[in-house]
Amino acid sequence: MEWFPELNSVRLTLAILLTLLLILYWYTRIPNTMPKNIPTVPIYISLLGLWSDMGQDKTYDRWLRQPLEKYGAVKIWFAGRWNVLATRPQFLVDMFRHEDVYAKAGSQKKIPWSVIAALVGDNIINSHGETWRLFTAIMKPGLQRRITESGPLLEKSRKFVDVLLEEQWRIGGEKGFLVNPIIQRWALSCMGICFMGVDLEVYTPTVIVMGGYPANNLTQALERPGQRLEELQSIIKKTLFKPLFFNFPDLDRYPFIFRQRKIAFAIMQEFGDLLCKTVRQRPHQETKSPDGDQVVDYLDRALKEGRITEEQYRANIKVTFLTAHENAQQLLNSTFWVLGTNTSSTPSHTYSPSSSNYSVYTPRLTTNQPRNDLYLRARRGNLHSNHTWVGWNAFGVHTDPNIWGDNAREFLPERWGSDVKSIQSAMRRKTTQCHFIAFNAHSRKCLGQGFAVLQMKILLFEMVRRIEWIVDPGYELKLTSGGIMAPLGLRAIVRERGEVCLSEG
Ligand code: HEM
Repeated sequence: MEWFPELNSVRLTLAILLTLLLILYWYTRIPNTMPKNIPTVPIYISLLGLWSDMGQDKTYDRWLRQPLEKYGAVKIWFAGRWNVLATRPQFLVDMFRHEDVYAKAGSQKKIPWSVIAALVGDNIINSHGETWRLFTAIMKPGLQRRITESGPLLEKSRKFVDVLLEEQWRIGGEKGFLVNPIIQRWALSCMGICFMGVDLEVYTPTVIVMGGYPANNLTQALERPGQRLEELQSIIKKTLFKPLFFNFPDLDRYPFIFRQRKIAFAIMQEFGDLLCKTVRQRPHQETKSPDGDQVVDYLDRALKEGRITEEQYRANIKVTFLTAHENAQQLLNSTFWVLGTNTSSTPSHTYSPSSSNYSVYTPRLTTNQPRNDLYLRARRGNLHSNHTWVGWNAFGVHTDPNIWGDNAREFLPERWGSDVKSIQSAMRRKTTQCHFIAFNAHSRKCLGQGFAVLQMKILLFEMVRRIEWIVDPGYELKLTSGGIMAPLGLRAIVRERGEVCLSEG
């Protein structure tokens, strides 16, 4: 053998390669327990994020639409395992109605070591059974309190329109500007005043640059928590909602090797600490609001009474913060696109502030829903095999011609009805049938829907009353490649109503 040293190294290389291949095969093989009668989406589609930032709509249209519209469900790789992804309404009704069979489990159960789990923890949205019932009993009154005092929300909406007009004035009449940063501030401030009992004052003009991560000056960060929280939000959205994070959570186990993951963990920690400190230091209200206590007050009491742990307190504060602003933020981004490209439908004189505009704008390309990625539940029953993760995709449902007809992707508000009553009843019916699942349906439907609709009505009322806008003709639609689906980097041109009509040039 000494005469052929190269033979040894060839053998060694082959052995290493073979071992690697075996490990890879073992890691990515489809378990025998998965259903055999539905197609499999090739694994490389889930790995596209490695080399492409293709919008989720494009990925869906190119690789998922055809098999899903034909079979209603597919096997797909996500979050480091094979899952069933379903879009056929009958399957969804079954899944959403049987919370006991399809136990909801968030990242804290599926991938407890991951960055995403560090961000959200064990909270009302992703828990199950007794824990979920406990969180719901505590938080529901705050999430669904009736808001009769709409003044504060109206004030935030007025400020939003003022800032849009200032920005347009600053850059000059005909140029488009990025709307998302302004939208994010609106969404954060509404969430703050309605759920956390704090005005995050993110519109404050004094800007201190605290830098990326870590904050250059922590004292300043604590002095202006709203601003720093907003910065952290932008960093979190940029880092976390990349397909790489969603598809390879196993890499989070090795933060000492992957620096990006180490930084991500530190960001999550700073975000949780700063948020909890901010809400705990919130100013004491002398007089009680006629609309009752906010979510944060209920959570404070539950923690004091020992009904929840400190960790559960933190997780629920964080998830309320995230879900209550981010969904609204992306809905408004989508609204800018939909109404800014369908200018003839902008409800000016025909607009009625009491109509449910959210439902009017929905089953369209940019339909907004939390996560186009999979939302997973573990199937614990025995219709298929046990322990299969099952997910859904709202974009697929909302653009399926089998459900909505050949014009599924056209913006046709009239398909919902012509008066408030018929629109609302269509919305209820289509939600129950799982034809419309932007707010989910049945046992785990969104508890913030009423608030979200009210918030949008107030804002649209203010926008339509004072401004008109078009999408910058130079802007090319691109949707987010991960996370909540919405237009990315949208630029709009805004003008005060009464000035020369924008759509006429
Ligand atoms: C446009 C706005 C919104 C949309 C499209 C939306 C959508 C959704 C969806 C699809 C779910 C189900 C998630 C899942 O099954 O994993 C959900 C759950 C939830 N949402 Fe919303 N949401 C919005 C606004 C809000 C707001 C403002 C709040 C207030 C904090 C909120 C609180 C919740 C809660 C607490 C749940 C969990 C319900 C449960 O599992 O019992 N949402 N939402």
